[in-house]
Amino acid sequence: MSRMRLILTPALLLAAFTLAPHAYAAGDPCQLEISGNDQIQYDKHELAAPASCKEITVTLHHAGKLPKEAMGHDWVLVNAADVAAVANAGMSAGAASGYVPAGDKRVLAHTKLVGGGESTSVTFPSSILKAGGSYQYLCTFPGHSALMHGTFKFG
Ligand code: CO
Repeated sequence: MSRMRLILTPALLLAAFTLAPHAYAAGDPCQLEISGNDQIQYDKHELAAPASCKEITVTLHHAGKLPKEAMGHDWVLVNAADVAAVANAGMSAGAASGYVPAGDKRVLAHTKLVGGGESTSVTFPSSILKAGGSYQYLCTFPGHSALMHGTFKFG
């Protein structure tokens, strides 16, 4: 019986430590996650954060294997009306700028560009958004935005 306890206790402790942080992160509505793959797809067409969030964090995972030079993904938040213009400006900005136009006010928030197996995140204050506003996110890697975009809901 005492030997059984010695075996079980560390196992239970380990389970408690591994499960607890996970459950917490999944329950925080201000921490959002999205993935991109090698087929030029995000796994989510919509992300939403409640108006109670003071800050919003979006973590982008590249679940594919291709390098960022061939299949780069980023996550760029814009007003819905600016999707095409920001995609074009990103293309013009080029690889050296990570396909994000520097100092462009139409870019509300953005991650860096990542390749297969990499993750990146961006945290921004919700004060840049209006509750109920019409926002979209896109990947600004050349040619990706037509497939890689989605609706961002706030409020
Ligand atoms: Co992309």
